[in-house]
Amino acid sequence: MSLSIHSTVKLNSGFDMPLLGLGTFRAEGKETVNAVREALAVGYRHLDTAMMYRNEKEVGRAIHENGIDRADLFVTTKLARDGQGYRETWRAVEASLENLGLDYLDLYLIHWPVESLMHETWKAMREIAQKGLSRSVGVSNFTIRLLEELKTESDFIPAVNQVEFHPFIFQEELLGYCRKAGIQLEAYSPLTRGRRLDDPRLVEIAEKYNKTTAQILLRWNLEHGVVTIPKSVTPSRIRENAALYDFSLDQEDMAVLNDMDENLRFIHPDWAPPEWGS
Ligand SMILES: NC(=O)c1ccc[n+]([C@@H]2O[C@H](COP(=O)([O-])OP(=O)(O)OC[C@H]3O[C@@H](n4cnc5c(N)ncnc54)[C@H](OP(=O)(O)O)[C@@H]3O)[C@@H](O)[C@H]2O)c1
Repeated sequence: MSLSIHSTVKLNSGFDMPLLGLGTFRAEGKETVNAVREALAVGYRHLDTAMMYRNEKEVGRAIHENGIDRADLFVTTKLARDGQGYRETWRAVEASLENLGLDYLDLYLIHWPVESLMHETWKAMREIAQKGLSRSVGVSNFTIRLLEELKTESDFIPAVNQVEFHPFIFQEELLGYCRKAGIQLEAYSPLTRGRRLDDPRLVEIAEKYNKTTAQILLRWNLEHGVVTIPKSVTPSRIRENAALYDFSLDQEDMAVLNDMDENLRFIHPDWAPPEWGS
């Protein structure tokens, strides 16, 4: 598969989404500004933030300082869990746009499902897309059951579902479902939040390709056609996480990685969907 840092996927909205983006969860203040600045210099054009991360202003500041053409950027932010419902969703998107200093988002996601408000929230999300406040809208942390539930009251399909995705939680069924439904899967915590980077199976594959285990994990996302958003505030790692295009994983190594699934989640808050288990 011939890919580059400029590679994109076409969303069901008709817009293109870069396969690689910079995550910003737990990036604070000046370090967020510096990380975004570094990422843009390296060639990232896709940034992932959220109202809940409290760093939209810093992401916006770095974008504006850089002076990059808005049309060349892909900016995602997310609707917080405690701000859902029809009116609240409208208020929240306006606040996020103001924080970021942007006229429109590229992608607006429901950060976590709130089932009791899901249909009215989705109605607002659809209108937000129709009015062009966000070019595409989607969901995050949605299971197949919730995606099916969404369809019972709306024929408007999310463009993206952002979920935890790495070999230790290879959500193959969800990936297949989303592919069939025309929903782009996006991987969060693709580096296992740094917790499993020394797994011996990963180390062995990394040595074979002369790459780091982080790069193997990210390339595994790309080989699956999954958008990936590694977070780092460390300049050398921001560069490392974008050096993914001078190798590809062979079938044998993909099979080893696919077999590592243990349904292991590093993000599992109290409010997670019940089918995640405890
Ligand atoms: N939708 C959701 O509910 C949700 C949930 C979680 C995350 N996300 C999004 O997904 C993004 C990525 O997920 P994440 O932040 O949870 O975890 P991640 O990207 O898997 O891992 C980030 C951690 O790995 C470290 N790291 C980064 N590159 C590395 C490398 N090359 N070698 C070694 N360590 C490295 C980072 O440290 P330094 O920063 O110190 O370099 C940080 O501690 C988030 O930032 C956020 O934008 C969304």
